[in-house]
Amino acid sequence: MVEWAISLAERLWAWRTRIPTGRLVKSNLQRRSMQDLLHEIEQFCLRNGMSETRFGELALNDKPFVSQLKSGRDLRGSTAVRLRQFMAEYEAGQLAKPSSSGRFAAGKLAFPHRDLLGISQLERHEILYVLDQAEPWIDLNRQSSKHADLLAGLTIINAFFENSTRTLLSFEIAGKRLGADVVNMHAAQSSVKKGETLIDTAITLNAMRADAIVIRHASSGATQLIASKVDCPVLNAGDGQHEHPTQALLDALALRHALRERGEAAEDFTGLTVTICGDVLHSRVARSNLLCLQALGATVRLCAPPALMPAGVEALGAQPFHDFDAALADSDVVMMLRLQTERMQGQFIASAREYHHLYGLTKERLKRAAPDALVMHPGPMNRGVEIDSDVADMIDRSIITRQVEMGLAIRMACLDILTRRARQVEGWA
Ligand code: CP
Repeated sequence: MVEWAISLAERLWAWRTRIPTGRLVKSNLQRRSMQDLLHEIEQFCLRNGMSETRFGELALNDKPFVSQLKSGRDLRGSTAVRLRQFMAEYEAGQLAKPSSSGRFAAGKLAFPHRDLLGISQLERHEILYVLDQAEPWIDLNRQSSKHADLLAGLTIINAFFENSTRTLLSFEIAGKRLGADVVNMHAAQSSVKKGETLIDTAITLNAMRADAIVIRHASSGATQLIASKVDCPVLNAGDGQHEHPTQALLDALALRHALRERGEAAEDFTGLTVTICGDVLHSRVARSNLLCLQALGATVRLCAPPALMPAGVEALGAQPFHDFDAALADSDVVMMLRLQTERMQGQFIASAREYHHLYGLTKERLKRAAPDALVMHPGPMNRGVEIDSDVADMIDRSIITRQVEMGLAIRMACLDILTRRARQVEGWA
């Protein structure tokens, strides 16, 4: 009886899509049907605040199903029918909703924060939630038409008190792709130059009724201060030496995708050894990545000259190294950091030449890491200082440009999630 029902469903599906039953031939028509289905799943997940992993688990008891489908896994007609039936019944309230004991709680419990100030405020499941929420935006950004109207009518202010290329541009593009009005405030052209305090600037931005404010500032804690003075969500785009949470999230997403492409798809980074090397002392990227990677199960090694290693990193669970060659041994991922001379007061290294000799990532030195070790860098890079060009541009090992791509998707996900309350999205208001 069950077999008969499945066979009938397969024939019905084949009739609807005019494709043969059984293992499907990858015709253009089938590809289009697959894209339609994936689009339906993405929209369903967005509407219901459900991750695609959770969707796979609930609909088919197969967590990686959707990501495998995106990577080209074949789909039987009967499975497509089951997935559509699941979505229809779920939204019609005919299925028990997942409880908060599931991977993600429903609605705002999945991410109960008004602001995104640091990775230190996030639980492991909240980090995974943001990563999963970014997945549909990666696909949208790869299409010729890249618009969604989710944030139509909202105003986002990017207040950057420090220089930026990647973060500012990607927050601006993210907001615009989601349909928001985006305004950039550059400190160099603002009344900060006339002596206005940070608090007065925050009060001014608040009076303009922004729906989200993205802040980059040279002082650690500046974003927290602004968040305490305004009524809308605040996103930290880098504050001094403290945190750069969206950088760590985009790094995790880039790593997840690179591993997935190698067939090493896993729930998290358990078993992975990541070496972060460079000016750890002045790096908010190192701090946010340490917290994020550890939350996702990775072992993190921090490598720096003694003068550029903060005290007490062992207490944070990191393994400190001053010898880069030793740190690299068997590392699965090598994340290089720039020397942040703008934050240095005094002489921290003898010369760029000596620094490169001891801590620069060269092709020869990379051989000490695991055979397929991935190379990352948050940018901006100083080629020939912390990283050689022939390593930064290695097609099969460097995921530096992928990090930039994922930055856009992560920032779209963060803006979406943090404005759901203002948009009165069901379950989030
Ligand atoms: N990684 C990073 O924050 O780059 P920008 O300084 O260009 O924003």
